[in-house]
Amino acid sequence: MKFFVDTADLREIEEAASWGVCAGVTTNPTLYQRIGGKLADFHNHVKRICEIVDGPVSAESVALDRDGIVREGEELASLHRNVVVKIPTITEGLAATKILSEQGIAVNMTLCFTAPQALLAARAGARYISPFVGRFDDISEDGIEHLSNTVNCLANYDFGHEVEVIAASIRSANHVLQAALMGADIATVPFKVLEQLMKHPLTDRGLESFLADWEKVRNA
Ligand code: G3P
Repeated sequence: MKFFVDTADLREIEEAASWGVCAGVTTNPTLYQRIGGKLADFHNHVKRICEIVDGPVSAESVALDRDGIVREGEELASLHRNVVVKIPTITEGLAATKILSEQGIAVNMTLCFTAPQALLAARAGARYISPFVGRFDDISEDGIEHLSNTVNCLANYDFGHEVEVIAASIRSANHVLQAALMGADIATVPFKVLEQLMKHPLTDRGLESFLADWEKVRNA
């Protein structure tokens, strides 16, 4: 499974990239708003992310009609060869995905919650599909089970082009573990969760005792 970082924060993206684990970046309007992003800076911000990470960088269209989504998608795609246009899983989004994918523009269909939505997204030409996990947990449903349905359904078919599942709305190390066990292609992970993935009390305890014993060797 590949790791994307789910943030618009350039410092977090730089740090994750420096660890050698960041194969791509996903952003959305909320993540951009959270860093105090301004509308006028958005395109430059996307370009800066593309300069940090040499991999797919998802930038979201906010139009709701197919022509508007296509127009925004073409603009976003023209910013950098690695830009992936993020489009919501709605019928107008499907139509826009068909048009953009026929132009060779990669689309990430987001806000995907069911396997049938994912199957339609793949048929329409989506290169990436982002089933959301945590938001199901928020409403007391099992987000991992929904993700698993999507991964399994997509694996049954050949769509005539590469389709990768991005497990999104990831909130915990367990979400990452479950996504990897079921073979999700990618997990897009908030920076905080990426940090948590590397933490284990036995690692800390082991390191502490190795260093203490090395101190004894030094002083012997
Ligand atoms: O990339 C979008 C997705 O990961 C959002 O996650 O935590 O807002 O449900 P969340």
